[in-house]
Amino acid sequence: MPAPRVRFLPEDNGAVLAEGKTLLDAAQTAGLEVSAVCGGQGTCGKCRMVIREGSTAAPPTEHLTPDEVREGYVLACQAIPQTDVVVEIPPETQLTGYLGLTEDRPRIDDCDELPTMPVAAADLDPLARTHHLGLPAPTLDDPRADAERLLGTLAKVDSRPIELDGEILQELPRVLRRLEQKRSSWTWEWDGRVTAVLSSRGEADEVLSLDPGHGSAGGCALAVDVGTTTIVAHLVDLRSGRPSAAAAKYNSQIPFGADVISRIEHARRPGGSELLQQAVVADLNVLAADLAERGGISPDEIPCLVVAGNTTMLHLLLGWEVDLIRRAPFVPVVGSPPPLRTAEIGLRLHPRALLYAMPMVGSFVGGDITAGVLASGLHLSEEIALLIDIGTNGEIVLGNRDFAVACAASAGPAFEGGAVTCGMRAAAGAIDRVHVDPREAQITFSTIGRKPAVGLCGSGLVDALAELRRAAWLDRSGRFQPDRIGKRFRTRNDGTGECLLARAEESGGPRDVVLTQGDVENLLRTKGAIYAAADSLVQMVGLSFGDVERVYIAGAFGNHLDLERAIAVGLLPDVPRERLHFIGNSALAGARLALLSRRRFAEAGAIRERMAYRELMVDPAYLERFTAACFLPHTDLARFPSVAGGNGGPPSLGEGLIQTFSGARE
Ligand code: FES
Repeated sequence: MPAPRVRFLPEDNGAVLAEGKTLLDAAQTAGLEVSAVCGGQGTCGKCRMVIREGSTAAPPTEHLTPDEVREGYVLACQAIPQTDVVVEIPPETQLTGYLGLTEDRPRIDDCDELPTMPVAAADLDPLARTHHLGLPAPTLDDPRADAERLLGTLAKVDSRPIELDGEILQELPRVLRRLEQKRSSWTWEWDGRVTAVLSSRGEADEVLSLDPGHGSAGGCALAVDVGTTTIVAHLVDLRSGRPSAAAAKYNSQIPFGADVISRIEHARRPGGSELLQQAVVADLNVLAADLAERGGISPDEIPCLVVAGNTTMLHLLLGWEVDLIRRAPFVPVVGSPPPLRTAEIGLRLHPRALLYAMPMVGSFVGGDITAGVLASGLHLSEEIALLIDIGTNGEIVLGNRDFAVACAASAGPAFEGGAVTCGMRAAAGAIDRVHVDPREAQITFSTIGRKPAVGLCGSGLVDALAELRRAAWLDRSGRFQPDRIGKRFRTRNDGTGECLLARAEESGGPRDVVLTQGDVENLLRTKGAIYAAADSLVQMVGLSFGDVERVYIAGAFGNHLDLERAIAVGLLPDVPRERLHFIGNSALAGARLALLSRRRFAEAGAIRERMAYRELMVDPAYLERFTAACFLPHTDLARFPSVAGGNGGPPSLGEGLIQTFSGARE
C-alpha cells in the first residue's frame, strides 16, 4: 500500500509522504517550523494540529479536551496517518511571525547600547583581514621564490607571522601571473597584483585566500548567536566594524525538542546527532545566503564567522558528542575550540572559511555567556555586576575585574511558551500585556500584531502573574482564590482550577486563553530557579543583592519584560531600578566584538579561564533558596521592599497604557 500523503494548511505547498511516520515527522519533512516543545514525547501538548480530511491513529491524550478531539484536534507527534490527510496547523502551533524576526527584521543596532560597543577604531583588528598587494616582478637580480616574495610583501603591511599551506602554494604561480598564448607558444605574464585574505589561527595567521587583482574578497564576515530557540546573525563590515545587515530565524532543531536536554536525548538516537547538525547548518546557510545577498556579495566571499551559543548548541553544530554534557561530571569535548574549516560541517561560505566558536566555561555555561560577559564589560569593571541571561536555559554570572563565578539555572521553557497550557512564543496573537481590574472583574490585554488572542508569550505570562497577584486573585503561594476571581474561575476535568483570561468568542481567537493552576506552578518554578540561582551566586561570595552595583538582563525575552512586574513576581531582585540594564542579545554582541578584534577574542578565552563554574545541584542551600523563591514574590518579603505593600503587586498599568491596547481586549 502506498504511504499516505499529507497536505498542510494554511500554506498548502503540496503533499508529503508520511511513510509510517507521525504528522510531526511529515511536517519536518515538509520543512515547516512548528512548535514541539517536548521533542515528540507527547508530554507538552504544543504540537496540536487539526485533521480536516482523512484519518489518523493516535493514543488518547490528556492534552486535548473531548470537544477538541471532536473538532479534529490531534497531537502531531502522536498521530499516524491511516489515509491521505489534509491537516491544518493552527496559529498557536506555527512558528511564524516571531516578533522582530520574520515580520520585522531584527535591528542591527539592537545591541549597540552595551558599554563596549561599538568597537573603537583603534581596536579594529578582525580575525580575517584583507590586503591588496603589489608584488615586484622577479628578475635575475631578485630571483626569490614566489612564496618568499609574497611573504616579504605581506611582512611590510602585517606584523603577524604568516603561514602558507599547500593549497595556496599550488595556486600561487597562477595568481601572480597570467598565462598568455602568443602565436603557438604560451608565456607567463607577470601581474603581481593580488588580494590576500589572512585569517587568525592562534599564534600564526594563514593565507586563507589569494585572488588575482584587487577585489572585494574578505570584506565582510558573520557574527552569529545560535540560540536554542532562535538564531540571529549579523553581516559585519570588517573595515568599518559596523554590521551591514541582520537576519534571524527559528532554530530548525526545535521540532526535536525545546530545550537542550531533549535535543541531547534526540542526538542519542541512531542518526539523531547528524540530523540535528544538518538542521542547524541548513539554518546558517539560509541566513548566510540572505545576508550575503543583502550585502551585495557572494557567500563564498565570506572568510569566517564567529559563533556564540550554549555548550550543547555549539557541540551539535560542530558534530561533537553531546551525551557527556548532561552526565556527571558534565564535561564538554573542549573549552576553547580551535578554528575549524566551515566546509567540514557543510557551511557554504568561502571554501576555506573558518568557524571560530566562543569559548565555553562548562557543560551548562557556554560560549553565549563568555560572549555576554565580553560584551557587557563585566570583567573589566571595578563594579560588582550580575549578568542574567534569561533564555531557554537561565545562565548567570557574578563578578567584576577581579573575579567571576557562573552557574546555570534549570529554568525550563515556561517563559518561551513551553510547559504552560496556552503558552506560546512571541508571535502574532500572543498576549504580551495584561491588566486586571478586580473591582469590575475585568481583564484587559494587548496582543502582538493586534491579532485575535491565541496564547500568552513570556512577557504576557509575567504580566498575568503580577496582575493576578496584585488583584489578590492569586495568594502568595500562587493558589487561585476562586471567591475573588468569580466567573473567571473554572474547574478543569482533573479537578484543578484555571483562570479565564480571554474568551475565544470575545477575543476572536481559536480557543479560550487560560492560565491553569499547573501553569502558575510551572511559572513559579521557572522564575524561582532564576532568582535562587542568582541569589546563590551572590551569597556564595559573601555578598547580598544590595552589593550588586549593576544587573545586566540579557536575552530576547528580557527586552520585552516589564521591569516592575518582573520584580513584582520575584523574577528579578528588588534593587534600585537604575542598576538594572537590559542589554539585549549580548551573545551576538560579544561574537561581533570577537570577530572584529583578535585581542577581544583572546579576552574571551581569558574570561573562560578565569570564570569559576558552580554546580547548583550539589549546593544543599540552593534547594532551600529555590523553595523560598517559588512564592509571589518570595517567602521573605523583606527582600522585596518595593513590592511588599498592598497585595504584593506593582501599581496598576494605568489608563494611559490601556489606551494603547489592541481591539482584542474584553
Ligand atoms: Fe507533541 Fe510535545 S506533545 S511535541
